[in-house]
Amino acid sequence: MSTYDASFRIWRGDAEGGELRDFTVEVHDGEVVLDIVHRLQATQASDLAVRWNCKAGKCGSCSAEVNGRPRLMCMTRMSTFERSETITVTPLRAFPVVRDLVTDVSFNYQKAREVPAFVPPEGVAPGAYRMQQIDVERSQEFRKCIECFLCQDTCHVVRDHEENKGAFAGPRFLMRVAELDMHPLDAAAEAGLDRSRTAQEEHGLGYCNITKCCTEVCPEGIRITDNALIPLKERAVDRKYDPLVWLGNKIRRRSDDR
Ligand code: SF4
Ligand code: SF4
Ligand code: FES
Repeated sequence: MSTYDASFRIWRGDAEGGELRDFTVEVHDGEVVLDIVHRLQATQASDLAVRWNCKAGKCGSCSAEVNGRPRLMCMTRMSTFERSETITVTPLRAFPVVRDLVTDVSFNYQKAREVPAFVPPEGVAPGAYRMQQIDVERSQEFRKCIECFLCQDTCHVVRDHEENKGAFAGPRFLMRVAELDMHPLDAAAEAGLDRSRTAQEEHGLGYCNITKCCTEVCPEGIRITDNALIPLKERAVDRKYDPLVWLGNKIRRRSDDR
């Protein structure tokens, strides 16, 4: 087994401020960045704060920025880097720092609460739900999400724009709206909820200019932009310019005015 010494630069600090600190840490064959951060904790910086859980790319806890790119530390192999390279590990930039590599991601839980849940179809018992395989597969792609929030972190709408956070749900939750809007059994429309309209008016879909940065960093390979955000935008536009919808809205507005 070969070993070598790698140069690491790790952000240390808290909500008040901090700085990058340099470390030299031993690396063994087959290791990932999280292994090195753990060795650093064990040998040189026992108070280094880092969040992790599964070490298998499934819990979404170990999100950080490695050389400026949002990544899961447990899925980033050291062999990706040159041995001579200095590897910089910093906390997710879009969220407030708690300490060292740990950020407060509660923004995402707030956004999750703002998306209305699946509305079950009336008169159909859960065991009797039937849908086509193509619809099942669409939902399944979105359901692979591990809530690592790397897509939320990389999206330029909020990455350096705290002021946009109130009006923008971010790719992960717009994807959730898209999943429900395209779900053949969701009865939201019958219950008076227009999901594509609320995506536009309440969840900030209009801020997204389909740059696909969210898709590029998704560790689950979900095609967030192509399969969720673009179809949701198309559905919002279709509904807005559908003559029947337009007429219905006009009639509804008139009767509301009376
Ligand atoms: S495609 Fe939209 S949601 Fe995704 S990163 Fe770009 S602007 Fe953000
Ligand atoms: S969509 Fe992908 S990048 Fe975004 S939270 Fe889910 S798994 Fe992470
Ligand atoms: S520790 Fe669970 S995804 Fe990395």
